Amino acid sequence: MEVRAGGGLAKASTRARRLLGDLRDLRSKTRQGIERRVFERHIARLFEKYRTLTMVPKSVFADNLRLCRQYAGIGGSVVECGVWRGGMVAAMAEVLGPGRHYYLFDSFEGLPAAKPIDGESALAWQANKTGPFYYDNCRAELRFAEEAMRYSGARSYTTLKGWFQDTLRDFRPREPIAILRLDGDWYDSTMECLTYLYPLVKNKGLIIVDDYYTWDGCARAVHDFLSRAAIKDRIHQTTNRVAYITKNG
Ligand SMILES: C[S@@+](CC[C@H](N)C(=O)[O-])C[C@H]1O[C@@H](n2cnc3c(N)ncnc32)[C@H](O)[C@@H]1O
Repeated sequence: MEVRAGGGLAKASTRARRLLGDLRDLRSKTRQGIERRVFERHIARLFEKYRTLTMVPKSVFADNLRLCRQYAGIGGSVVECGVWRGGMVAAMAEVLGPGRHYYLFDSFEGLPAAKPIDGESALAWQANKTGPFYYDNCRAELRFAEEAMRYSGARSYTTLKGWFQDTLRDFRPREPIAILRLDGDWYDSTMECLTYLYPLVKNKGLIIVDDYYTWDGCARAVHDFLSRAAIKDRIHQTTNRVAYITKNG
């Protein structure tokens, strides 16, 4: 009799433990679901806040911020090359926090001339000065980017005006780079950024390549750089086709 009663108790306590485990899972899933919904609302608010200061479309803007949230645990500097009016990097700063240092590189004179390696569509885009997405050859005044960073609440940022090949040459961030966002469109611009900055990115740091699916030259620069430097890091993509790499080593 005693043995059976003991067996019954043991079964009941196993069932109770399972039930408790299920409840804990449910609580954690519910919490994650709520946090996700809150973050999605935050993204929507950030897009409204910065929409006149970025040319990045909403779905891509959102994926960039989702990636930032995913990599937010990695401390270090944040760099964007090709900031235009600074709306994208300012929104990233809102997700990544005001305590880091942000570096904003741009000519603030627009894009250099596209070359054949950038592809037919790049040449055609630049030739059509009245096109809806020409944005004066992506020219923006520096004051917009500074304003965007002030809105973001970031305490510490540097704008570096000039051509990448000049401003990147002797660049040393205060802290190794945790997140690097490349948005310079063309082959040469992307290659210069990768050459100077990839070595400064931390292990497990994030590299976002905005134009990988847009311009042939950008994609070729990424392939050429990785291949020449014998880097085995893979290129991933988000749901809305944002290309990114996690640096390994
Ligand atoms: C597509 S826009 C960047 C869009 C921006 N990230 C946003 O949030 O809207 C490309 C920018 O890259 C800059 N750029 C491209 N190549 C460059 C180079 N070699 N040196 C400096 N700036 C460059 C242009 O001046 C332009 O502002």
